[in-house]
Amino acid sequence: MSAAVSGDLRADGIEVRYGPVLAVRPVDLVLGPGQLIAVTGPSGAGKSSLLAALAGLVVPAAGTLSVAGRPIAGRDEAVASGIALIPQGNALLRVLTALENVAVPLVAARLPDARQRAEAALAAVGLDEAGGQLLEELSGGQQQRVAVARGLAERACYLLADEPTSELDAANRGRVMALLRAEADRGAGVLVATHDPDAAALCDAELRLDEGAASWAGRAGPEKTAESE
Ligand SMILES: Nc1ncnc2c1ncn2[C@@H]1O[C@H](COP(=O)(O)OP(=O)(O)OP(=O)(O)O)[C@@H](O)[C@H]1O
Ligand SMILES: [Mg+2]
Repeated sequence: MSAAVSGDLRADGIEVRYGPVLAVRPVDLVLGPGQLIAVTGPSGAGKSSLLAALAGLVVPAAGTLSVAGRPIAGRDEAVASGIALIPQGNALLRVLTALENVAVPLVAARLPDARQRAEAALAAVGLDEAGGQLLEELSGGQQQRVAVARGLAERACYLLADEPTSELDAANRGRVMALLRAEADRGAGVLVATHDPDAAALCDAELRLDEGAASWAGRAGPEKTAESE
């Protein structure tokens, strides 16, 4: 749940297939502590598929995933290695309150400070007043911020955020990107899939997917960025 392992999250030749559909062509990626990397590309390019593979939710058709040199074979190992996912579509429970949604993974992990962590994460996304409201009473953008809070509350080593600002106004997009940068600053490796060029421009590097094929866009890839700091 928190800071289980430090080191790089590495994808070596990871490929994602759904039957005949090749969603992600072989990609190499190194996500190190302190890095904030954007994954961009048009709808259907393979962003969510790549993040799902990195989170251990989808078994890659080829390639290997590792954390600090240790292979990751599935979701349980990914969780144990501190990999958290903020999924596209949020995956929140409508019958629970905002606070309960954020706290569920923390309670499941038997963290004694689950409630305090959940409250702090909700406050960070500007929803400290909304903790007691049922999810279905919240707007789409508020629900998205609850999903971001749930990811932040995990204090992951690697945070994979799948379009976490897609339903937000400009002020809240800026707030969420600042929170993701703060996650990197405390030592997490953060990957954010986004359609928003402004959000991508705030990242250290941009991995662009086009019909499943990955390339580093514009500026340097992450290794070069790290060297130039
Ligand atoms: N569970 C699935 N079963 C079969 N095909 C899938 C599945 N999930 C995704 N795909 C296909 O894989 C390809 C990549 O989809 P993916 O969701 O990764 O794209 P994306 O870049 O995240 O798109 P968006 O920006 O719309 O979220 C698409 O052709 C999609 O139809
Ligand atoms: Mg997607």
